[in-house]
Amino acid sequence: MKTATSNFFNDQTVFLTTKQLLRWTICSLIPIAMFLIYFYDLPILPFSPSPNSDFTHSNITSHHSSPSSSYAEKKKAYQNQCDYSKGDWIRDTSSPLYNDTTCGMMKEGRNCIKHGRPDSDYLYWRWKPSECYLPRFEPHTFLQLISNKHIAFVGDSMARNQVESLLCMLATVSIPNLVYQYGEDNQFSKWNFSSYNVSISLYWSPFLVQGNEKSSTRPNNELYLDHVDEKWAKDMNQMDMIVLSVGHWFLLPAVYHEGDSILGCHYCPGLNYTDNGFYDALRKSLRTTLSSLIDRRENNNGKGIDVVVTTFMPHHFEGDWDKAGACPKTKPYRNGEKEVEGMNGEMRKVEIEEVVAAKVKGSEDGRFRFEVLDITELALLRPDGHPGPYMNSFPFFHGVQERVQNDCVHWCLPGPIDTWNEIFLEMIKKWGEETRSED
Ligand SMILES: *[C@@H]1O[C@H](CO)[C@@H](O)[C@H](O)[C@H]1NC(C)=O
Ligand SMILES: *[C@@H]1O[C@H](CO)[C@@H](O)[C@H](O)[C@H]1NC(C)=O
Ligand SMILES: *[C@@H]1O[C@H](CO)[C@@H](O)[C@H](O)[C@H]1NC(C)=O
Ligand SMILES: *[C@@H]1O[C@H](CO)[C@@H](O)[C@H](O)[C@H]1NC(C)=O
Ligand SMILES: *[C@@H]1O[C@H](CO)[C@@H](O)[C@H](O)[C@H]1NC(C)=O
Repeated sequence: MKTATSNFFNDQTVFLTTKQLLRWTICSLIPIAMFLIYFYDLPILPFSPSPNSDFTHSNITSHHSSPSSSYAEKKKAYQNQCDYSKGDWIRDTSSPLYNDTTCGMMKEGRNCIKHGRPDSDYLYWRWKPSECYLPRFEPHTFLQLISNKHIAFVGDSMARNQVESLLCMLATVSIPNLVYQYGEDNQFSKWNFSSYNVSISLYWSPFLVQGNEKSSTRPNNELYLDHVDEKWAKDMNQMDMIVLSVGHWFLLPAVYHEGDSILGCHYCPGLNYTDNGFYDALRKSLRTTLSSLIDRRENNNGKGIDVVVTTFMPHHFEGDWDKAGACPKTKPYRNGEKEVEGMNGEMRKVEIEEVVAAKVKGSEDGRFRFEVLDITELALLRPDGHPGPYMNSFPFFHGVQERVQNDCVHWCLPGPIDTWNEIFLEMIKKWGEETRSED
């Protein structure tokens, strides 16, 4: 399935095989046309090498800066807080909360068990943070804590992957009603849990700001960095909590607009614009998004809002995208075996920095809470958690094929991404305690 698009990128193709190469984050490049057919919601990854980032993990796992809580209280909460972003995947014998037959909300391509994935070891690991314990997900607790609230997941297919994991876990105690579903591949959806008066929605917005995605007819993404995407932002005032998850779409060729001018581009040979890379575009998009949240709430005199940014999730393609076993590992990496570095580290760093900046900006108004769901390292250590060839049903039914599409970006359900939601729940629990102490 070679295409013009793939030829365009061919000379950039590099195999991630040696430690040395890891100093540069480069991956095998995957034809966009194929991606549009098989993944639709998954952009595959032509990205530029970026120098090793020397990013040190800081204490950014955030707290609510409410003017009404005392400094001592804040300091205490801050110190008691666990850093879930560092740890190790350890063996666990307990089964996931759900399986292929108990959840109707997941996109087919994530249903690895149903699609015939033969190994099941990847289901029996749990995340052990270095300095504390991460409890198993408790669906009742989650629903109780968010009762009378609307949580929106906004972003690309990773946002969808996370919301589907959440719905599957919640469905073990309460079946959600589908309120609506529309858009290509149901990119806009809403569910509710009537007995808790909870709504959970999903908005497709891979840049968060206004934009047009690269497609078979559009050679580049087009981003309007100073305009928040109204597809989700128009509903902002009905949301109590927003989980943002973007990243991979920024890696594709793009042209960046700001105001009336073109700021530059990324990966745009043939266009006479400055190539200013995608980190800055991600930063500006997040800044526009987080500022809009604050500004509009202030204008509307609205109620409080909690904003969570899920950090960048590394992919695990090894070698050719189109060969069987592009992410063939069946075990997690151990702590220390892989470092968050290069592009992964840089994306994460930009996201964290922008959340910290928003926190400062929003702190004058006690109604805002911004938090980082820092899962980049957890994700990096799980090469075994992707659908791989099992994005399609029984890919080897007719014997081993020469070329098999693999998905080494999204996560099997159940799978490691369930853990992101366990951490999300701990975050919500902590917020619940803070609210009580401020009453
Ligand atoms: C992180 O926390 C430690 C101990 O609480 C403190 O010494 C250090 O300065 C903090 N680092 C940052 C970047 O805030
Ligand atoms: C899936 O979960 C249901 C309900 O917990 C259980 O009855 C069933 O045995 C599970 N199936 C598998 C294959 O584990
Ligand atoms: C249900 O939740 C919405 C907010 O999502 C709130 O406006 C409404 O008052 C709640 N209804 C009840 C009966 O509590
Ligand atoms: C939940 O969705 C159902 C079906 O669309 C609807 O009848 C019900 O009013 C909704 N409940 C809430 C609390 O939004
Ligand atoms: C590219 O832009 C520069 C500066 O705007 C201009 O001088 C040059 O003629 C342009 N080249 C082409 C091929 O359009």
